[in-house]
Amino acid sequence: MTHFTIAIDGPAGAGKGTMARRLADHFHLNLLDTGLTYRAVAHRMLALGLPLNDAEAAERVARDIDLGALDRDILSQHAVGEAASQVAIIPAVRRALVDKQREFARTSPGAVLDGRDIGTVVCPDADVKLYVTATAQVRAKRRIAEIEARGGTAELAQILSDIEKRDARDMGREDSPLRPAADAHLLDTSEMDIENAFQAARTLVDQAM
Ligand code: C5P
Repeated sequence: MTHFTIAIDGPAGAGKGTMARRLADHFHLNLLDTGLTYRAVAHRMLALGLPLNDAEAAERVARDIDLGALDRDILSQHAVGEAASQVAIIPAVRRALVDKQREFARTSPGAVLDGRDIGTVVCPDADVKLYVTATAQVRAKRRIAEIEARGGTAELAQILSDIEKRDARDMGREDSPLRPAADAHLLDTSEMDIENAFQAARTLVDQAM
């Protein structure tokens, strides 16, 4: 096998992150959670006290992001995800981050990238494209379980409303909206556990290798 790329897209909380990690481990590929790159821009803007809609500042911050120094613990906070979807509507931010993501995708022996626009924009020639989804209700419940596992608490109604707002922003934006690529395999994980979802994805990748 030569260079191999797997593109995984879908809305927040669909299980793409876990699936991407398991596929990368199984097939010995590099892994990039592209959501972390948007989160890193948002986090830096907040830390600098800059408004999230300051396109010029956000572009400068995006050009400075180092993919090797993304701290998942800090960036996984719920509020950072919300802010990330606001900087993600800025085309100059997307261009800066997509350049870095494409460079990563070219690393040897290949890579798994997960996000919102991997199959459509970042890696349109990916060997396998998966569009992973689940109902908003199921995704909200999974988010709550994650928050509780870290010792926190959250209201289902609040998380559900945040998820619906984020879906609307990600699917409705003009630049690179979240949508399945024409040649993506659709995987609805609403009724699947992590293991079943991974096995379904693995089978699709095996068939493409
Ligand atoms: O996947 P995650 O929740 O970490 O992504 C945070 C936000 O970053 C998303 O809601 C989305 O607005 C943005 N994003 C994006 N394109 C990607 C990855 C994430 O616009 N490829």
